[in-house]
Amino acid sequence: MAGFFSEELLNEIISATDIVDIVSSYVHLKRSGSSFMGCCPFHKEKTPSFHVSADKQLYHCFGCGAGGSAVQFIMNAEGLDFPDAVKFLADKVGIRIPEEGTHQNEERYHKKQQIYEMNRDAARFFRESLLSDAGKEARDYLSKRGLEGQTIAKFGIGYSLSSWDSLLKHLESKGYKRTLMVEAGLCIMNEKGHVYDRFRGRVMFPIINPSGNIIGFGGRILSGDGAKYMNSPESIVYDKGKNLFALNLAKKSERGYFILVEGYMDVISLHQAGITAAVAGCGTALTREQARLISKSPVYLCYDSDEAGIKACERAAEIFKDFGTKLKVISIPSSKDADEFIKNFGKNAFEELIDKAKTVTEHRIDLLLKGANLDDVAQKIEIMEKAAQIFAGISNAVEREVYVNQLSIKSGISVEAINSEIRKVNSKNLRREVRSEIQKTVSIQNTQAPEKKNITKRRAKSEAGLLSMMAESQKVFQSFKEHYKEESFSYDIHKKIYSLICEFYENNAGGKCSDYLSGNMQGEEKELSAVLMSVQNVDNPVLAAKDFMNVLDDEIFNEKLTKAQNEGNIEAISALLKEKKQKGGK
Ligand code: GTP
Ligand code: MN
Repeated sequence: MAGFFSEELLNEIISATDIVDIVSSYVHLKRSGSSFMGCCPFHKEKTPSFHVSADKQLYHCFGCGAGGSAVQFIMNAEGLDFPDAVKFLADKVGIRIPEEGTHQNEERYHKKQQIYEMNRDAARFFRESLLSDAGKEARDYLSKRGLEGQTIAKFGIGYSLSSWDSLLKHLESKGYKRTLMVEAGLCIMNEKGHVYDRFRGRVMFPIINPSGNIIGFGGRILSGDGAKYMNSPESIVYDKGKNLFALNLAKKSERGYFILVEGYMDVISLHQAGITAAVAGCGTALTREQARLISKSPVYLCYDSDEAGIKACERAAEIFKDFGTKLKVISIPSSKDADEFIKNFGKNAFEELIDKAKTVTEHRIDLLLKGANLDDVAQKIEIMEKAAQIFAGISNAVEREVYVNQLSIKSGISVEAINSEIRKVNSKNLRREVRSEIQKTVSIQNTQAPEKKNITKRRAKSEAGLLSMMAESQKVFQSFKEHYKEESFSYDIHKKIYSLICEFYENNAGGKCSDYLSGNMQGEEKELSAVLMSVQNVDNPVLAAKDFMNVLDDEIFNEKLTKAQNEGNIEAISALLKEKKQKGGK
């Protein structure tokens, strides 16, 4: 079925696609913990039971049982077959499928190529202008800001002359049409149809995508009135929310991580200092799409140390959490931003900041403690309560202990008091989780093995829950694998998932378990999503897994007992009851 496309192309398309983004154009989604919820587009409902997970890149409806990946979603939503759904997605993410491209695709592709070429010519022109007599003021400005010639060349930095039509005339002499200049955002057309240069008297930063094409420009004013930055508008080659400045360079960095900063100048300064992992948005708040581009590597968030920077950092942390990204936070002391810091304290000082970067939790606690008066009892209690909320989300006990100790030392609140507060939060959360699990209508029975009707909902639910927790956390798998064999699970699909999970962890396959499962269960996406999406927003997978295990053991016990009772096997019955008593069961 995938034969229409090379595996490579298919993977490229799928990894460029974000399911939340795709589904959002059909369903109004609301965040709910780490996933998203809305009303199912495939059946009539008033209360939302349709879930989408960014982390797993799956959707599932607990009402009607529909589920799968972005491809299945488009197949269902658009009524397309597999190859057309893949083409549909390819088009959305701007990947061209060779040969089979439709006429419309061809035209679009051709136009994009023309714009890339024109942008390249524009960048050359800006560069020549910077080096010309008219570029003196701009050259002085750049040198005042500490940029070396090499850096200017590497980033292709240029200058747009203070004229209404110098670029326009230049591009026209190269044979480009005015309409194309307007479409690419290099020129503006007023109501009277008059066309003129968009960027005038600005330092020009080309924005280059990872394929090496110039997709737009950012222009900084040298001085005086007017917006500090002017950016290219969106066009068929430039989608602001889907690109990061200097991603083309940072992708090649040998550092193996990314540093996300706020501004063009921050990026450029860091690269100049040899810290080539830096990228930035282009003046818009971080989008999920941008986050996704770098989410597979560790990311250091390095926002400005003002109020807006702190907020943006918290928001970014939330977004990256959805992708399971390894995150750290660099906080810049005594300077506004990374650029300023490097200028004041140098490269080595910044390397130190990287080494000393905090985890998101540490960073949050620091913010909590900042400026607090610990002699004030009410403030102290508030800090403890807020910290407990933060800590309760950490499932790793060792990690949690480290944070609790740190907080205790910094705040003078005893470890016991913090721990007891965490327990309070945890038990409240767990109760809420279990309640919501019970409320969810289980669709598993509708979608699976009709011959197994006698399997109870409780059992189906707990098996699915346990499997989903195992797929989510290696720790859960390690803790419970001794306890279960493939036969412990009652549905064939559950057995299959369990054996694939074992395979994944035991072979250290790398990547995410959910991706591994999706890759190995083609044609069974619906069943897989039903299981993987059966539990969500669990703060503590181990605790939740224990809960499911208890229910499952209970069900297995009841099944055995019923069987023994039906057979009139007194010996077996008493053995079972005895065993249960020993385990402390009710
Ligand atoms: P310098 O002030 O020259 O050091 O630049 P910076 O890169 O540090 O800019 P700043 O921290 O003020 O802003 C961060 C980013 O927001 C910039 O790099 C731009 O992408 C964007 N930005 C800032 N000001 C404006 C503006 O006036 N208009 C637009 N569209 N974007 C802006
Ligand atoms: Mn700055």
